[in-house]
Amino acid sequence: MAYSDKVIDHYENPRNVGVLDKDDTHVGTGMVGAPACGDVMRLQIRVGDDGVIEDARFKTYGCGSAIASSSLVTEWLKGKTLDQAQTIKNSAIAEELALPPVKIHCSVLAEDAIKAAIADYRKKQGASEV
Ligand code: FES
Ligand code: FES
Repeated sequence: MAYSDKVIDHYENPRNVGVLDKDDTHVGTGMVGAPACGDVMRLQIRVGDDGVIEDARFKTYGCGSAIASSSLVTEWLKGKTLDQAQTIKNSAIAEELALPPVKIHCSVLAEDAIKAAIADYRKKQGASEV
């Protein structure tokens, strides 16, 4: 299958690969797997005291489209509030990367990873307020 130029660009030059300290209370970690193919994506965000995402990192064990989707969303996440991040849709990712229908689930994985990272962060904040 032919990958789009944008997928190839992100695949060959992935942005923001890496790990943030998952025990940091400012860090939210989302770990999700795609039942369709077994690929796994870990997405992490670090949120400032102003509620704005100041850093995002990913590590994806998966296909080129999954790597490109996670690389792209780390770029999109930086500078967004959590509420803005929550609205990122897999359809926007798929459109930006020109993903073919069989690769749509790779972008769903990225959307799910964002939501999981936000949920983890919010859970930590709730826990630290007790
Ligand atoms: Fe094998 Fe996604 S199906 S990498
Ligand atoms: Fe499964 Fe891409 S083929 S995440």
